Formats: sequence, structure tokens, C-alpha cells
Amino acid sequence: MSFAIQDPGLLGSWLVAGPLSALRAASADRPFRTGLLGREVALWLSDDGAVRAECDGAPLFAQGRYGFAWVCPDGRPARELFAFPEFDEPGRRIIDCGPVGVATSGLRVVENFLDMAHFPYVHAHYLGELPHTEVTPYKVDIDAATDEIWATDCRFWQPRSSAAHAEGSDAAYVYRVMQPFCAMLYKSSSRAGERDAIGLFVQPVDETRVIAHTLLAYFDDTSSDAELIAFQHTIFGQDKPILESHRPQLLPLEGRLETPTRADMLSVTYRRWLRERGQQYGALAADRTAALAATGSAA
Ligand SMILES: [Fe+2]
Repeated sequence: MSFAIQDPGLLGSWLVAGPLSALRAASADRPFRTGLLGREVALWLSDDGAVRAECDGAPLFAQGRYGFAWVCPDGRPARELFAFPEFDEPGRRIIDCGPVGVATSGLRVVENFLDMAHFPYVHAHYLGELPHTEVTPYKVDIDAATDEIWATDCRFWQPRSSAAHAEGSDAAYVYRVMQPFCAMLYKSSSRAGERDAIGLFVQPVDETRVIAHTLLAYFDDTSSDAELIAFQHTIFGQDKPILESHRPQLLPLEGRLETPTRADMLSVTYRRWLRERGQQYGALAADRTAALAATGSAA
């Protein structure tokens, strides 16, 4: 056993461990090394193109999907990796926006990705603009078959919704949380009737350091790859310092420390879903949350 993870929220799940492009120059003798759950994982491609992964010399279950390497940190995978049909859909451009290191819990990064209310304040002139601050009611459901969270009917007025949008538009969003550290966003495309997809795959290097991988599956006939990547970096660059200054770094799941509003229905569902899965990694334990709430401290 390499990780000795006791977390039922992670056991048997697939975690992203870097882009496949990073493995192409690697070998068993000179593997690509990266951090995962406080340990170092070595990855490379075998002669038949399969992903191989080891931690402390012990092999891990691994696979290559959606342009990334995924490993099962402890034991046998309990489930298949989530579906991402847009990845293989003809006509979509698949673009890896590159890794971004963020010094906070991966659960915070995913929760921030799901939050529309911060758009006018953090992403002014791009994803929102004052005084358009209202988050209109939307629906949140958990798919019983896949145990994924879906938020639908989300709408938000955006000055510049993507690299291809030159003017403001009332953007339609659908959010999807497939596993604790992975989420998708489907939003209005510049191609009428279609939705662009953005995948956020968070690699938990440890509990308060992550590598965020953003993958686009876009119908964009005008922007260059560099423009699409630059747009995502601009947005993420606005989120990063706020994420890194947020205290506590670990995400409280009990709801007493950070009071939700109606606009936070998706966040509330995400935290409850994590709690019900028994998620511990990246989460603030209940007793510590209660202590912080009692003192009013957010340190
Ligand atoms: Fe943001």
C-alpha cells in the first residue's frame, strides 16, 4: 500500500496526475515525477502506449484518458472514470490550457469554479460586471445513476463570456461535478445551438497545494489556441490570489463557519455531497470547524 489513504471519499477513485504530453518524453528509467496526496508518483508510457505509474516502487492502477494520466491512489479502482463524451465529439477543439499551481485545498478550487456570484467582482469586464450581480434561481440535482451533481438553468450576464465573444451576452451555464476534485462547465458557445465544455481536473499535490488542469472542448471557429489559453489564464489569474488568501485553506463541510445564501445552492449541495461521501482530504474536520466558528477566527 503506497498512500495509506483512509479517506472513503477518495478510496478507489481516479485522480489526475498530469498531461499525457508530459509522459511522452518519459520512460521507466526516467519517469515523469509529480506530487499526489503528499507523495511522489512516477509515470511513463509503456511500449504499447499504456500509462504506467508507481509510488515508492509499488505499481498503481493507471490509465490515460482525455489527454491526461489518471491513477487510483490506493487499491483497486471502485468505479470507472467519469464520462466526457464531448472530448471525442467531431468538430470540437481540444485544448489543454496547461497546469496552474494553487496553494489551497482542491475542494476550494472546485467550489470556486462552481460559483457564479463572484463573477462581477473578480472577473469584471469578462465573466460579469457591476451592477449585474444577481444570480437567478437555478436547479441542482444529483444523478442517481452516476452520483454526479448537475446544476442547470444557470444564467448570468457576461460582458465577454469567452475569447470568441466580443460583446456582452446572457450566458447559459450548466455545471457538473463528477468527483470531488473534478468538475465540468458547459456554457453558451459562439456557435449557435452548441455548448462549449470546460473541464477542471484538480490534482491534489497535498491537502493545501494543487495543480489545476483546465481542458477546453470548444466550438470556436475564430480564436487561436493561444487566444483561448490566454483567456483562461486571465480568468484563473484573477481567481488564484483570492483562492490562496482564503482562510481556512481546508474546506469546512459542516456549514457553520461560512453561511450560505440562496445563490450558494450549488456550493451547499457540493459540501453536503462531500460530507455524505465521507470526504476528508482537503476538508476541515467537523471539530476544528466548530472551534473556529466559536472563536470567530478564520485562521
Ligand atoms: Fe473565478
